[in-house]
Amino acid sequence: MTSTPMILLLSGSLRKGSTNEAVLRTAHAVAPSVGVDTVMYEDLARLPHFNPDDDTDPLPAPAAGLRAVLDRADAILICTPEYAGTLPGSFKNLLDWTVGGTEICDKPTAWINAAAPGRGHGAEATLRTVLGYTGAKIVEPACVRIPVGRDALGEDGLIADQKARNQLGEVLGLLASEGER
Ligand SMILES: Cc1cc2nc3c(=O)[nH]c(=O)nc-3n(C[C@H](O)[C@H](O)[C@H](O)COP(=O)(O)O)c2cc1C
Repeated sequence: MTSTPMILLLSGSLRKGSTNEAVLRTAHAVAPSVGVDTVMYEDLARLPHFNPDDDTDPLPAPAAGLRAVLDRADAILICTPEYAGTLPGSFKNLLDWTVGGTEICDKPTAWINAAAPGRGHGAEATLRTVLGYTGAKIVEPACVRIPVGRDALGEDGLIADQKARNQLGEVLGLLASEGER
């Protein structure tokens, strides 16, 4: 591992002004204070629809890029909305692209549920199932709820609430220490 651990941030939302993306952008802002590097994955919309026929060498460039950045990461942090009781199709598509590779296998991985209290459990359950197929190492204490409404975002698009920012710092620290083992 490099001296500063790198955590890949995966948002499941393509929406402009996404609260899930804001959680991860806030984690990115907090990361230096806990001695962690983060990289925001920006190419969700560029991934082609997964087709097993295309899961061969050479991979479509966006899929190869995804696997390369997953490979470089010491750990993964996901924040995704729930759509119709499960994951957004575009994000499930990203996860489908990871199944044929080994990059996620044994990689410390956690998710933040940013939905309102009592919501988002379907997305969490699907994440747990799909990540199980990929062999990701789920870091349970780093899987936390940080409810974030659209009114919680400041003009900079980030979460201002210090308690939430502290929680994000703790999550990053837990993932980084798992990545060092
Ligand atoms: C097509 C669609 C389906 C949704 N289905 C659910 C759902 O099943 N359960 C839920 O709690 N919220 C559901 N929502 C609400 C979103 O999860 C919520 O608006 C979330 O904040 C969107 O995340 P974002 O701000 O990161 O885009 C749905 C929203 C959309 C657009």
